[in-house]
Amino acid sequence: MLKALRKVNDDCPCMSVFDEIVDRNDPEDIKHAKIDGIDDLIPMWVADMDFKSPDEVIDSLVEQAKKGVFGYPEADGSYDKALIGWYKRRYGWEVDPKTVLRLPGVVLGMTYAIRALTKEHDSVLIFEPLYGPIAKSVKGNGRNLVISDLVLKGSRYEIDFDDLETKVRENNVKMLILCNPHNPVGRVWTREELLKIGDICIKNHMVIVSDEIHADFVYSGHVHIPIASLSEELKKITVTCTSATKSFNIAGIQAANIVIADDSMRRAVDKVSLSTGAYGLNIMGLVATRAAYTYGDKWMDELVSYLEGNIELVKSRLSGTKLKVTDIEGTYLMWIDASALGMDDTAKFFLDNTHIRFSEGTFFSKKATQFIRMNIACPRSVVNEALDRMLSLPEIN
Ligand SMILES: Cc1ncc(COP(=O)(O)O)c(C=O)c1O
Repeated sequence: MLKALRKVNDDCPCMSVFDEIVDRNDPEDIKHAKIDGIDDLIPMWVADMDFKSPDEVIDSLVEQAKKGVFGYPEADGSYDKALIGWYKRRYGWEVDPKTVLRLPGVVLGMTYAIRALTKEHDSVLIFEPLYGPIAKSVKGNGRNLVISDLVLKGSRYEIDFDDLETKVRENNVKMLILCNPHNPVGRVWTREELLKIGDICIKNHMVIVSDEIHADFVYSGHVHIPIASLSEELKKITVTCTSATKSFNIAGIQAANIVIADDSMRRAVDKVSLSTGAYGLNIMGLVATRAAYTYGDKWMDELVSYLEGNIELVKSRLSGTKLKVTDIEGTYLMWIDASALGMDDTAKFFLDNTHIRFSEGTFFSKKATQFIRMNIACPRSVVNEALDRMLSLPEIN
């Protein structure tokens, strides 16, 4: 199958590399895990992609593996150069490499920041719906979780700034965790919104933890702005969690770069990481991240434009149905309001009736029982097949 598609790609330059069906039939692959009784599953849930990483990333890993030695690594100047170059080229953000902590994951970086920069029972605020493990980290570390619900206005989610200010004041919130672009509602926060959030945090002496793992997936008409890049004051209070893992489909390699400009905050987070023993990059994470950030620009641009095509397809084919697709400005995760179906368990309904596995809304908010999240980072033929199956259901028409 793979070979056949490669051949088609060679013969027909009109096809994109992202059209290739990559074989993920691997018993250790979470996204494509088999479900009893289903032999034609379309997995559109976990946030990784069904595309191969760029050749340069694969080659760098093969080259490293061929050395046959996998000792402890320490990133050198070439790693820093790749990282800093990417931030500058892609987001116009100047970062001093000395302010970067390298860790085995973004959620780990956030967890260390929570432990280092707040105390037990302190309040930490998040905007929901939000990628579930973040709330779990806040609660699991004995902090008081404060939720400000994002508000759906038309088809676009917005921050309720009155609610945010009230909750910050009433709960004496010490830390705000931002997700930009926001998983799952697909917002890319604007400069105005970020400045408003920043003002509230500065005024209330709060720390900002900004999860920017989806920063490279931003669509036409939108730009990713790291909140730390907006002013010296914001730079001083922000922990920015970044990673090449989503962008280049290397999530299984687990590597993150956490930017903390303030020396004392960075030392505190570093101290927590040393106390756990989980810090630094593994050799493959280091090699893959460096290759991605050195050679990945063109591939990334092409990927974003391909994904934009998938998004347009979903929007146009589902328009006029009972499924309401919310606006997506960033990420490859579409947040769909299925409340018109009135199902108790919407994701299960689709799994049973179409053999498509979506993420359940309740992974992101207890209130989102009527929502599903659709991962469209797969070949267009797969998106079309999924849409065919969905549209064949009388319930959605
Ligand atoms: C917003 C967000 N943050 C963090 C992660 C996980 O990052 P890591 O595997 O580096 O902890 C994900 C994965 O889906 C995510 O969507």
